[in-house]
Amino acid sequence: MSPSYPVETVTEGKATLLVPRLDPDAEEHIQQQRSQAPVFYNTVMKTNRDTAVLALRAYQRKKSRNVQVCEPMSGSGVRGIRLILEAGEVNDMVLGDLNPSALSLARENAKLNGVSDKIKFRELDANLLMALHSYPFGRFDYIDVDPYGTPTPFYDTAIRATKNHGMIALTATDMPPLCGVNARACIRKYGGRPLQGEFCHETALRLLASSFIRQAAIHEYAATPLFSYYADHYIRVYFRIDKGARRIETQLNQFGFIKYCPSCLHRFPSMENAPERCECGEEMNIGGPLWLGELSDEAFLGYMIEEINEAPHISGTKAESIMKLARGEIGFPVTFYDIDKICKQVSVKSMPTQDAFSAIKTAGFKAVPAHYGTRTLKTDASISDLFQVFNRFKA
Ligand SMILES: C[S@@+](CC[C@H](N)C(=O)[O-])C[C@H]1O[C@@H](n2cnc3c(N)ncnc32)[C@H](O)[C@@H]1O
Ligand SMILES: [Zn+2]
Repeated sequence: MSPSYPVETVTEGKATLLVPRLDPDAEEHIQQQRSQAPVFYNTVMKTNRDTAVLALRAYQRKKSRNVQVCEPMSGSGVRGIRLILEAGEVNDMVLGDLNPSALSLARENAKLNGVSDKIKFRELDANLLMALHSYPFGRFDYIDVDPYGTPTPFYDTAIRATKNHGMIALTATDMPPLCGVNARACIRKYGGRPLQGEFCHETALRLLASSFIRQAAIHEYAATPLFSYYADHYIRVYFRIDKGARRIETQLNQFGFIKYCPSCLHRFPSMENAPERCECGEEMNIGGPLWLGELSDEAFLGYMIEEINEAPHISGTKAESIMKLARGEIGFPVTFYDIDKICKQVSVKSMPTQDAFSAIKTAGFKAVPAHYGTRTLKTDASISDLFQVFNRFKA
């Protein structure tokens, strides 16, 4: 049955989809139109779905069987349909949504792409749907939690409905609390204090990771971040969950704090949160508790990048560029730097990105571009080392 509201046909990846038609003449109100549309579909989130395709392909490398997948908040069905069309042997999918219009459009879209026989549709609250699958033979290999705002209310059931060694992806779009605009809300939802400042998107990922790792520990699972990134005003982390108290203990040892001086940009990770005065005399801000371990797994992210060969339509996309940059960041200290912030701090004129990299490397430090922004970098140099390097650019 055709929807009762205006729709248009779009293609994304290998899928052809009916989605609510937004008024192109009111381009400036596109966000508002999207939020008021009868069913949610956001083209900007294609990058998010591209990474899901590659993550599920990478996950399947270690499985020789059909995998079970659940997307409990599926909107138009675009993600689930793309996973069936693009992520290899996915023949067993559950798509849920509370909005009956969303489910009915997802059904239409499944028909349009010839994949209806592989999907079960459930008009249920996401927590109820996942709870119904929390018995041993009902669990999924992969659950993709893609809500409005924070995913924290869905942690518990997502963990219970995922198999041992399975994968869970979480998207969070509530960036103001995670980036410190509303610190109390972040503490309530994620159990840690956020930090405002140039590296807040990395702190946001670490807060999301720590809150999920703690919840997984309650269920005797270690949750390992496989791939984490920030893009387009959201953050996303893919986790693998594995049973085992020893693994969990190792992870809990990697929780701590970040102390940061917004006045001189000095920062360092710390295992305690005692108040501290910076070398410059200012009181340091303290973020956390948060995850201080790696945000991505080298082998898994390597597989994801290799899988682009099997999904060539994702080659050259933003997803590929983020994944390659995130792989380069592995092994570097926590937090990243923004070239323009440092220039401003030492009162030198802004310089080409390449010149900044050459100067840091010539001074004997390692440096790689970070995925958080076009002028962000990770390095083993301290902020005082960077000041010395950048000071050489003074006229
Ligand atoms: C951000 S959209 C999902 C978009 C979709 N995953 C995609 O990739 O296009 C969030 C969806 O969650 C649904 N939703 C919100 N709260 C829900 C709940 N408690 N249970 C189930 N669905 C819910 C909304 O109706 C909406 O379709
Ligand atoms: Zn300072």
